[in-house]
Amino acid sequence: MEITGHTKLTGLLGSPVSHSISPLMHNKAFELLGLDYSYLCFNVGVDSLADAVHGLRTLGARGWNCTMPDKQRMCELCDSLSPAAQMIRAVNTVVNENGILIGHNTDGIGYMMSVKEAGFDIIGKEMTLLGAGGASTAIAVQAALDGVKALNIFNRRGRSWEHAVKLTDTINTNTSCRASLYDLADAASLEKCLRESSILTNGTSVGMAPHESECILSDDSLLHPELIVSDIIYNPRKTRLLQMAQAKGCPTFNGLYMLLFQGAEAFRLWTGKEMPINAIKQAYFTPSN
Ligand code: ATR
Repeated sequence: MEITGHTKLTGLLGSPVSHSISPLMHNKAFELLGLDYSYLCFNVGVDSLADAVHGLRTLGARGWNCTMPDKQRMCELCDSLSPAAQMIRAVNTVVNENGILIGHNTDGIGYMMSVKEAGFDIIGKEMTLLGAGGASTAIAVQAALDGVKALNIFNRRGRSWEHAVKLTDTINTNTSCRASLYDLADAASLEKCLRESSILTNGTSVGMAPHESECILSDDSLLHPELIVSDIIYNPRKTRLLQMAQAKGCPTFNGLYMLLFQGAEAFRLWTGKEMPINAIKQAYFTPSN
């Protein structure tokens, strides 16, 4: 695709960013649809974020993504926030509407689309979510906004516990979903919640490379074949949790398509067009790459 005098700039802010699959995915999609856009990576630390955003706004960039740990700071730099970004208090996608910066969070949307893509419908059902970090928060809020009936959040009593308390309260105040918070060490509650849930989602980083041998559940005794088991981790493609669940007869899926669909939603917000999902999947999201 040629860069012209009309090319609209999009990109990724964060540090590090050079490993990201986003430029490949977006530039390929722009090319396939013949859109005069370009996506670049900018290595920007949180201390330079305000300057970078000021520059992008001045230059008339169409929009950008940002990665951790900039997502919370990006919230404060936007002029307005989508309802989900407001509740999550983190922004991963900005749209520049003639100098007005609108902050969105497409991570939760990406997860909910990946549930559909895997062939499941969890609207009106109960969900158990492990973790209350950045990714889990986005998933919890979007699941509640989309109509999941009840959400059981399990987190350890550590760094993010206070945040988890606020998250549960935000969901109960702003949505019709009934959210409850439990200590991850509370095995009796986990057993009860998993019996009543349609889906279990591991939103923690436990089991991610290079710690593939770790598993967020100590054994498979709480899993049952009617439970969908998903992991937001995509490296490795099959975590110990997913291996254990498959052996128990549970349907499973990993975090690969959450990554794809959070990008697809950002693409839609910037261009007004649907990302050519099948072509992008084939190019960058096959089970082995
Ligand atoms: P991300 O942006 O990928 O969501 P994060 O915000 O650091 O990353 O969140 C990671 C989540 O995994 C948190 O809920 C974290 O719990 P703490 O805040 O208590 O650390 C959880 N997590 C990480 N390691 C864990 C472990 N060994 N056991 C249980 N939970 C863990």
